[in-house]
Amino acid sequence: MKQTFEPVSVIAEDLENAEANASSNPKMDDIIRHRLSRRDLMSAALAVSAVSLTASPAALLAAATDTGATPSFDFPELAAGYDEKHHVAEGYDADILIRWGDPVLADAPAFESGKPDPQAQQLQFGYNNDFLGYLPLDESSEHGLLVVNHEYVDPEIMYEGVPADARTQAAWDAINRDQVDAEIMAHGGSVLEVRKQQGKWSVVPGSRYARRITGETQMRISGPAAGHARMKTSADPTGTRVHGMLNNCAGAMTPWGTWLTCEENFNYYFWGKGQFDKAKDPAALKRYGIPAEVYKWAKFHDRFDITKEPNEANRFGWVVEIDPMDPTSTPVKRTALGRFKHEGAGNVINRDGRFVVYQGDDQRFDYVYRFVTKASVDLANPAANKDILDEGTLYVARFDADGTGVWLPLEHGTGPLTQASGFNDQGDVVIHARMAADLLGATRMDRPEDIEASPKIGKVYVMLTNNDKRTQENADAANPRAENRFGHIIEITPDDGDHAAPTFRWEILVRCGDPAKADVGATFNPLTTENGWFGMPDNCAFDSLGRLWIATDGNAPAKTGRTDGLWAMETAGKARGTSKLFFRVPIGAELCGPVFTPDAETLFVAVQHPGEGSRDTPSTFADPTTRWPDFQPGTPPRPSVVAITRRGGGKIGA
Ligand code: FEO
Ligand code: CA
Ligand code: CA
Repeated sequence: MKQTFEPVSVIAEDLENAEANASSNPKMDDIIRHRLSRRDLMSAALAVSAVSLTASPAALLAAATDTGATPSFDFPELAAGYDEKHHVAEGYDADILIRWGDPVLADAPAFESGKPDPQAQQLQFGYNNDFLGYLPLDESSEHGLLVVNHEYVDPEIMYEGVPADARTQAAWDAINRDQVDAEIMAHGGSVLEVRKQQGKWSVVPGSRYARRITGETQMRISGPAAGHARMKTSADPTGTRVHGMLNNCAGAMTPWGTWLTCEENFNYYFWGKGQFDKAKDPAALKRYGIPAEVYKWAKFHDRFDITKEPNEANRFGWVVEIDPMDPTSTPVKRTALGRFKHEGAGNVINRDGRFVVYQGDDQRFDYVYRFVTKASVDLANPAANKDILDEGTLYVARFDADGTGVWLPLEHGTGPLTQASGFNDQGDVVIHARMAADLLGATRMDRPEDIEASPKIGKVYVMLTNNDKRTQENADAANPRAENRFGHIIEITPDDGDHAAPTFRWEILVRCGDPAKADVGATFNPLTTENGWFGMPDNCAFDSLGRLWIATDGNAPAKTGRTDGLWAMETAGKARGTSKLFFRVPIGAELCGPVFTPDAETLFVAVQHPGEGSRDTPSTFADPTTRWPDFQPGTPPRPSVVAITRRGGGKIGA
């Protein structure tokens, strides 16, 4: 049947999967051919035989390094499946801490369903909670600040009477100023003070730390793009100030207590496609998928119309640093880390003291990046790290077929990054980081999501969520599966344990999907049960015992027979490559932001967009075919933060 139904969520999914990278690198045809033959021996991507399916995990195991130091997960595995509720492993409680529309600031009104209200929304918890960061107060694991990203909105779920099909003239005509402004206010982030009492977590009402950051919050631009000609607009002739952060997906906390929050699909907010030919810099717009025309804010706000304010889009797509301890502090867009569709900002203090941030650009065929500061982190004096992210070197990764890799510097004046190729200064390099990376010959990946460095063993894990447009012809060593529907995870080992080293080694930890289906070519350890496998890895986190947990985005009844969830993943020893299901979300939701308290006794997770529709199951306001934990007719499903604890106390999974 012809698909005519296009809510925001379906359009967004298409755009995320779109290929913006038309560059031809790497053309390593010979290398690829070499690798393909090797891959065929190990486990062919398609038409794989049952024999090679069993051989592949064995090869994986043979390559494993047994540190013997990491304890296994002791929880009883949850059964995979799907329904309208969330579920956690037996022996644990999963309690909703806060939901979209709940009060954040002291004078916020209670949630009222149905009608967009920008004044209320700017005081209430935003929509689509993604990244979560926990900052202990007084080093406590029972009292701290929880910072939350609000990535995007699903207007057809949030508000009554919104046309389900977002891409029509009728939808443009229908939207009013209140809805647009409420959508802007539902973006950004929240800072919550949270406390555990009698074993249960709650938000401290009226906290002096409480903060809402929105699509209007005043921010500062720092680093090489600050004040650059491409950053100047009629509202900001200095090119150093911008209102709001948009589509903040994942992120990270820094060791000096700040919150790094990452702008991902910022192209969704810009309008002006009809005028594309008249645009200022069409090649760059195309490379960044601008304007995507998902949200209709340009109807009331000229800055989101690229024909009226051609540089505004250059002021989004950055990593933003926020001090959650000071609700009056100005968030800073750190441009030295490059402009692209940032997923997260997994980080580590290198052994020489410099700060290293690993970053994925979440788009089909886009890149893995690394940023290394010039200065060393000063943990004794947190204020000394205030502007440490403004100076350093941005690199992009090339994964070679022999299992080694190179970090290629995006430095103006180095290699092809000169005036002759359109880069006049480092500002141009960071603003057009994708195009700079194209010229360097970076490896085109299967949608890089979260990247996290193990705090115990120093290895780095890269979530590659999927890419069903990968073909046999353009498969490469690091992205070996044609029509990669279920994604894979790469493990990077920095050379000599040095996260700033120019080179690294890498291998694939696991290819995701159903191991029982030969044509999928999944390579989970055979110890993985039928509940334990997953597709579409997205966020990941380490607990304080050094164990890896993986959250997914994209599992669905029709695709994998299960909803998204959180899986515990063994990375060492004989069980390496085994995963185990711990928590799953209601239908339509994605699981984001897993974060553990330092004592490992609480796990916070973000349940994003419960009830969100797909092509098969359109979801509209109060559609009874899509439900959620507190379903009541006439109320929308509400994204929530969930606190998970072990009944009777104790560490999660240990
Ligand atoms: Fe917002 Fe890459 O997920
Ligand atoms: Ca994500
Ligand atoms: Ca995602």
